[in-house]
Amino acid sequence: MIFSKPVLFSAIQPSGNLTLGNYIGTMRHWSKMQDDYECLYCIADLHALTVQENKINLKKSILDTLSFYLACGVDPNKSIIFIQSHVCQHSQLNWILNCFSQFSELLRMTQFKIKRKIEKNCAKRTSAALFNYPILMAADILLYQTNFVPVGRDQKQHVELTRNIANRFNSLYGNIFTLPEPLITQYGSKIMSLLEPHKKMSKSDVNKNNVIFLLDDIPNIVLKIRHAFTDSEMPSKIYYDIEKKPGISNLLEILSSITNKDINVLLKELEGIMYSEFKNIVADSLSKFLFKLQKSYNNYRCDESYLKKIAYEGAIKCQLKSEKTLKNIHDKLGLITFFK
Ligand code: TRP
Repeated sequence: MIFSKPVLFSAIQPSGNLTLGNYIGTMRHWSKMQDDYECLYCIADLHALTVQENKINLKKSILDTLSFYLACGVDPNKSIIFIQSHVCQHSQLNWILNCFSQFSELLRMTQFKIKRKIEKNCAKRTSAALFNYPILMAADILLYQTNFVPVGRDQKQHVELTRNIANRFNSLYGNIFTLPEPLITQYGSKIMSLLEPHKKMSKSDVNKNNVIFLLDDIPNIVLKIRHAFTDSEMPSKIYYDIEKKPGISNLLEILSSITNKDINVLLKELEGIMYSEFKNIVADSLSKFLFKLQKSYNNYRCDESYLKKIAYEGAIKCQLKSEKTLKNIHDKLGLITFFK
């Protein structure tokens, strides 16, 4: 084993503004996880190349994302923060794993099917990278002998694919890869759109009132919550039921995540109040919460030399750690290691 505690790998694509969905589904847990795991927090910039929407400013997005990692409490003294493209071992393992993956299993990936459909509808061509993307994800995970991968429900299938590829490789070459397990929280792993709570909150939504961005200004956040969809059940009653009350349940999940209170505890506190009052409570809590997060973010974001130092140190650590796995794989595959 390369690390002493179980290894946890997490990554986000730096493809534009992060949303409340990213925070609640993923980043919220990062600070606490540092105590229990050896954490690697990756900025998946190579993944972001698979969808070049509106030519986003990738350099800026990478530094924005890195600042958010720090603002969410990731401590570079406890965890490794790094940028995927700085560690060329990811691309190398990606190719090798391509040779151990099947066309048919990639075709079954739900995310690929969805993204492809969207691209077709916009008359765009589908890149080979979009198809191969889950293999790069497998490389990210397997390179560090990862034990746990915190993912939303939509990414679970990719972790299963990673396990299949690892198993296939291990059965041919011995115990090379640790089999990773997905970590999925019970609530809040999927935050839904505010106006259409049957679909996931997504930064690419054309209707920006569906989405809360972490950098939205506070008055805008209040308005978005006040306009969020709620059902018309009479008399109005606040309870958790994704089927019958998707809008209310979504707001409950948001409130529960940012206050760290269990939904059942919240339901007791909220008993008998009206929807409008409930929305005011959510809007108020969320505004206070995001105000603090934005302040911390801005402090990091304005110090680019510090951000670059963190990324550099992270990359060096990752190169050292991943090189061990990769050398072992090269050796098993019969590739000759470089002589000096
Ligand atoms: N594909 C993930 C996403 O879009 C990001 C990602 C890249 C990732 N590599 C990963 C997540 C490895 C978990 C593990 O959200």
